[in-house]
Amino acid sequence: MLETPSPPLQCVFSGIQPSGTLHLGNYLGAVAQWVTLQHRTATPIFCIVDWHALTVWQDPAALRAGVLDLAASLLACGIDPQKSILFPQSLNPDHVELAWLLNCVARFGWVSRMTQFKEKSGKNREQASLGLFAYPVLMAADILAYPTNGVPVGDDQRQHLELTREIAIRFHDQYGGGDSVAEPLLIPPATLVLPTGARVMSLRDGNKKMSKSDPSDAARIDMTDDDDTIRRKIQRARTDSLPFPETAMTMQDRPEVANLIGIYAALRGESIESVMAEFAGGPFAPFKEALAESLVETIRPIRTRTVALRADEAALVRMLTDGAGRARAISQPRLARVRQMMGLL
Ligand code: TYM
Repeated sequence: MLETPSPPLQCVFSGIQPSGTLHLGNYLGAVAQWVTLQHRTATPIFCIVDWHALTVWQDPAALRAGVLDLAASLLACGIDPQKSILFPQSLNPDHVELAWLLNCVARFGWVSRMTQFKEKSGKNREQASLGLFAYPVLMAADILAYPTNGVPVGDDQRQHLELTREIAIRFHDQYGGGDSVAEPLLIPPATLVLPTGARVMSLRDGNKKMSKSDPSDAARIDMTDDDDTIRRKIQRARTDSLPFPETAMTMQDRPEVANLIGIYAALRGESIESVMAEFAGGPFAPFKEALAESLVETIRPIRTRTVALRADEAALVRMLTDGAGRARAISQPRLARVRQMMGLL
């Protein structure tokens, strides 16, 4: 199922930005994997990356609320703070110190090639924050601050993870093997991407990723949407006038259709082929009804739990602070070793 590395996973790390609401792409591409992996990993660590969010301007009150909203949503999705370490990035300053040290290892040319920076800065590159450019190195530091073997993410993060591996390897080329050559201090981690759900596209345009920043609410299913909103969005989701595809061939060049089938397969834990066999050749209406009902069944309990958990702000802050303490206990001795290897006092 997962592109899992051969040794068992000791430590997984992943992150998510607290700007905007958790959406179906985040859930199917990343968070659903986190929930499964937390039961199969000795040290699962999940981080609400508020420093990353600041690479574009955020309203301070909305950012603070967004961190707590997201914490409630992640718990509601099934992240168990007894099993997993869940914390906001800004409560562990080890990430920024390591990011600075790795800024001096990463090459300007490597970071310049990051397509996400090019997409996000667009024509306004001169006015983009320096943080937006350096972001992938902070992401590498997030991961390498821990003995991370695997990073469960959606497909859009692959390039950042390749950079993370390059940085880890270059660090050891420059500063030696660390404690053991067989197990380097900074471990090049595996990218864990699911076969379905890894790239959920907009409901309005199958060539665009489903994203928090899409101005059209109809392009996205939020994990806070109520039942009627979900049904309406799916009913209006773009398809085409051809019948339901029967084979991969008849799905070609139909990105909106492929996306809806992919979402249904991911929700039901089925293969694309078995979904095609179920609805082959027919009209889209019954498929859309089944898809909407699967979404409602998945999202309704998550939505209800999110509201209940969000009501106790003090408990959320306590849980996040506790998580940050547990994270720091792991990163601190590692950072001390990095400092020493680089020749700092
Ligand atoms: P972010 O906040 O954009 O997204 C969080 C996770 O959701 C996945 N995702 C999607 N998956 C499938 N289809 C989509 N349409 C979709 N949209 C988002 C993302 O792939 C991601 O896994 N740079 C990261 C956050 C980060 C991080 C890290 C991740 C910071 N440090 C360290 C892993 C490890 C980001 O902006 O994700």
